[in-house]
Amino acid sequence: MDASFTKNILTMNKKILLILLALSMSSFHQVAAQKINDDNTAIESKIDALLQQMTLEEKIGQMTLYTSDWDVTGPTMRSGYRKDIEAGKVGAIFNAYSVDYVRELQSIAVENTRLKIPLMFGYDVIHGHRTIFPMPLAQAATWNMEAIEHSERIAATEATAEGLNWTFTPMVDVARDPRWGRIMEGAGEDTYLTSRIAVARVKGFQGDNLAADNTMVACAKHYAAYGAALAGRDYNTVDVSDRVLRETYLPPFKACVDAGVGTFMTSFNEVDGIPATGNEYLLREILKKEWDFDGFVVTDYTSIAEMVPHGIVADNKEAGELAVNAGVDMDMQSGIFNDYLAQSVKEGKVKISDIDDAVRRILRIKMMLGLFDDPYKYCDKQRQDTLIYHPEHLAFARAFAAESMILLKNQNQTLPLSKQTSTIAVIGPLADSKKDMIGAWSAAGDFNKSVTVLEGIKAKLPTQRVVFARGCEVDGDDRSGFDEAVTLARRSDAVVLVIGETKEMSGEAASRSEITVPGVQQQLAEALIATGKPVVVVLMNGRPLDLSWLDAHAPAILEAWFPGTQAGHAVADVLFGDYNPSGKLTVSFPRNLGQVPIFYNNKNTGRPMSADKYTSKYLDVANTPLYPFGYGLSYTTFQYDNLKISSPTLTNNQKIEVSVEVTNTGKMAGHEVVQLYVRDLVGSVTRPVKELKDFRKIYLEPGAQSVVTFGITPATLRFLTRDMQWAAEPGEFEVFVGTDSGTTQSVRFSYSP
Ligand code: BGC
Repeated sequence: MDASFTKNILTMNKKILLILLALSMSSFHQVAAQKINDDNTAIESKIDALLQQMTLEEKIGQMTLYTSDWDVTGPTMRSGYRKDIEAGKVGAIFNAYSVDYVRELQSIAVENTRLKIPLMFGYDVIHGHRTIFPMPLAQAATWNMEAIEHSERIAATEATAEGLNWTFTPMVDVARDPRWGRIMEGAGEDTYLTSRIAVARVKGFQGDNLAADNTMVACAKHYAAYGAALAGRDYNTVDVSDRVLRETYLPPFKACVDAGVGTFMTSFNEVDGIPATGNEYLLREILKKEWDFDGFVVTDYTSIAEMVPHGIVADNKEAGELAVNAGVDMDMQSGIFNDYLAQSVKEGKVKISDIDDAVRRILRIKMMLGLFDDPYKYCDKQRQDTLIYHPEHLAFARAFAAESMILLKNQNQTLPLSKQTSTIAVIGPLADSKKDMIGAWSAAGDFNKSVTVLEGIKAKLPTQRVVFARGCEVDGDDRSGFDEAVTLARRSDAVVLVIGETKEMSGEAASRSEITVPGVQQQLAEALIATGKPVVVVLMNGRPLDLSWLDAHAPAILEAWFPGTQAGHAVADVLFGDYNPSGKLTVSFPRNLGQVPIFYNNKNTGRPMSADKYTSKYLDVANTPLYPFGYGLSYTTFQYDNLKISSPTLTNNQKIEVSVEVTNTGKMAGHEVVQLYVRDLVGSVTRPVKELKDFRKIYLEPGAQSVVTFGITPATLRFLTRDMQWAAEPGEFEVFVGTDSGTTQSVRFSYSP
């Protein structure tokens, strides 16, 4: 690798840093201080006064959310929502944005209704609003909390410039089944990492001041355990023990409450036989009492009505009663509260105090947003005209996407490709597919604005040196394009093959019973690899796939996920070494579907795998995944030495330090995510073989070394003990530090309080 090449990489890495710095300093990203849980007596007394004026019907109206006719994110549509607004029967609208449209609907509420209570405007701003960032699971692979928070800051900036003030984000469902299409919306299989990312997202959207015109209220979803849907089939039954619920699935939600999240969304699934939307234990007991959450709870879409087919109530009226009694504050889209709740109150089936509490929570958020002071505060045309697709947002989107990609394999340094390569064949059904670049749940993103891989590569090299063939479709068995693709590959010096899933193959209602690369794409890869040319596989997909064949045969594999608006530029930056890949998996990639669910923090069992027959293993496949949690390669190499612990014993109120020397032993500057895992060797209940407890993302020049130090306190060791208390138990612990969850470098200490 020549010196100018290395210099370019450095320039690129510095550029990304500068972009981040500039963005965090620019004026429209500034926010000031206020928290949802702050004691705010002025707001509470205003709510008291308003509640006194409200009729029961007006209260119920506030508890109702309807979709506009702009966008459909669920099975039902409701006509006449404008009339409902005028009748005071609506508290919030979703799927309506743009300054003009929001102003038009808001004016009905604040000019034509008796009490003139402003509406909230919600939307699924999941990975960017107009400027689309990588899908959330890809974002998680950056392990970069500042960048994730910043992406939400930008998303909020754009969304609020188009009239929105409520996002249905973050999705904090821990997910361990790649069949489930919504795995792409979360942060992966680990509870600790999901919690850290959840906090970054809440902070990014809400800032420190909900009343600022560029912040919006966030929504922790889907509460709870939605990611544990049996067999990965969306909306399916969930069956987890209370311990697993509280230890694996709930902590990210608790982290959101602690970060001041304003709203919660129930999930579609049942938990222990009771649908989450009618689950008093989840909503009143845990969320509102134990965690003292003072925001409001909205249902997921028509999940109140769905309690009828769940078989827990006989009809819609009973469903509404169960929901409110369980602790739901706002009904999304079913209209059941408007239809029946007044009658249920009159019959004494629902307490008026519960209605008042729900309305108080909703009005509290509206007041904190400042909507009562200025209901049109998010309707500023100038902000809309200047902030949407702002060049700084696009620059960040490109850098962030490059950072989210994971180098899965790089035999003989096939990558980075040299810009001197005379001809590159860009092949595959996803190589030039604008539609797919932005992935599922891409909000108001316009895919026509997205940059494809072909376009990104053409922007790097003289276009006559880049040739393209589609080869085949993502799905189906048509191989008629193979010959053309193989002919182009033979005439070229390198092949970039872009394959994977379409954007519709993941996201909601997009579970798959297979996790193979669909259609004949793998056969296309086989045909191209057989030419003997260096074939770089660029994957676009919303879930872990079975890559066993590709791993065994393709010289290089780059997991690009769905990278967003700037997809092609970001892929090209990585392929040509203008960015040295640093992404790390936050979900295990299995060797085959039979291993699913597979995750790094499993239990040891009484018969851990060994050469003995009667141990916990398969006859036909290893226990380990193909690529473990935390895994990802770089164009450089990192060496870990001298793992040390400051003391062999940890006592109460004390901290011990674990340190390790990390050296960049390769020729290129790069980032490394140094990961710390702990194993509690003996517990009052069995503990996982490893649990992520901390990590640090560092940047090292070639030859440079850094000592990375982590602190361990009794809090690090806490878990849900046999008597269901969060506590650290005395005993022996093993600490692992390394480049991924497969690391075996460890030291031991004992905890004796
Ligand atoms: C999804 C939610 C989403 C809601 C509103 C539902 O179908 O499960 O995640 O926020 O629709 O669009």
